[in-house]
Amino acid sequence: MQTVTLNNGVKMPIIGFGVYQIPDAEECEDAVYEALMAGYRLIDTAAGYLNEEAVGRAIKRSGIPRKELFITTKLWIQDAGYESAKMAFSKSLKKLQLDYLDLYLIHQPFGDYYGAWRAMEDLYHEGKSKAIGVSNFLPDRLMDLIVHNEIVPAVNQVETHPFYQQIKSAAFMKEHGVQHQSWAPFAEGRNNMFDNEVLTSIAEKHSKSVAQVVLRWLVQREVVAIPKSVRKERIVENIDIFDFELSSDDIEQISTLDTRESLFLSYHDPEVAKMLGTLKVNL
Ligand SMILES: NC(=O)c1ccc[n+]([C@@H]2O[C@H](COP(=O)([O-])OP(=O)(O)OC[C@H]3O[C@@H](n4cnc5c(N)ncnc54)[C@H](OP(=O)(O)O)[C@@H]3O)[C@@H](O)[C@H]2O)c1
Repeated sequence: MQTVTLNNGVKMPIIGFGVYQIPDAEECEDAVYEALMAGYRLIDTAAGYLNEEAVGRAIKRSGIPRKELFITTKLWIQDAGYESAKMAFSKSLKKLQLDYLDLYLIHQPFGDYYGAWRAMEDLYHEGKSKAIGVSNFLPDRLMDLIVHNEIVPAVNQVETHPFYQQIKSAAFMKEHGVQHQSWAPFAEGRNNMFDNEVLTSIAEKHSKSVAQVVLRWLVQREVVAIPKSVRKERIVENIDIFDFELSSDDIEQISTLDTRESLFLSYHDPEVAKMLGTLKVNL
């Protein structure tokens, strides 16, 4: 598996497996198990997805040595703050049946995420998480965190797909040594991504699927992607992207699809801060 090297030297697989919106414990465990059998080594979960136990069971069932895996989970907003972040970390670790994480992320840039970051810096120094990072941080929030803290986030996981390509943010992250990770690489199928004419014509040319073209496009940009699927054939398909290359013309055509706007939610919108900040999750 191709890897990227984070700003602290840790190697991270460039393709991983995401488990958002797999609430059924058995389905989640089976999907993660199939992903591990198919060759994925990075699993991306979150306390807020309420499926860390299922991920933990799948990891155990796979029998894959811990050091070969790269496990990410995320801190939800209601656990932001120094003490609560430390408690939430221990809870996540226990649910995952692990004794360390590879990557711990602040899920959202809301609440006392400064307190949380200081707790995460401690966890990093204690070796309990091999890397720490953030998610959904726009460049201004990211810069503020960098300037006022000791550790520069290793990763920023943000919505990135052909309709929201994050070209400017990506350049900013690269400049500051923050690895760009894509969530919703397929935009969860929105905008009819799988039937998009530009993408289907590129896919036909390479005898690949639209999903594979999109993931290959991210890999060629050195963006880590974590596609989700509960179907075995798609799980296998989504990692089979290392035997072809998109041309500069293909990439130029994909660039025309960029709307420069989120298909989900805007982190500039105060209503989003209110909605997510007041959401109570039964963690
Ligand atoms: N940090 C954040 O705030 C945040 C937010 C959202 C997501 N994430 C992370 O990013 C991961 C990926 O994003 P996502 O799950 O929202 O969406 P996604 O990966 O963009 O899309 C998943 C959807 O695409 C379908 N699909 C998967 N492979 C396919 C293929 N080869 N052909 C056709 N359809 C395919 C899946 O259906 P089936 O399952 O039926 O195959 C599912 O409906 C998440 O699981 C999560 O780990 C993070």
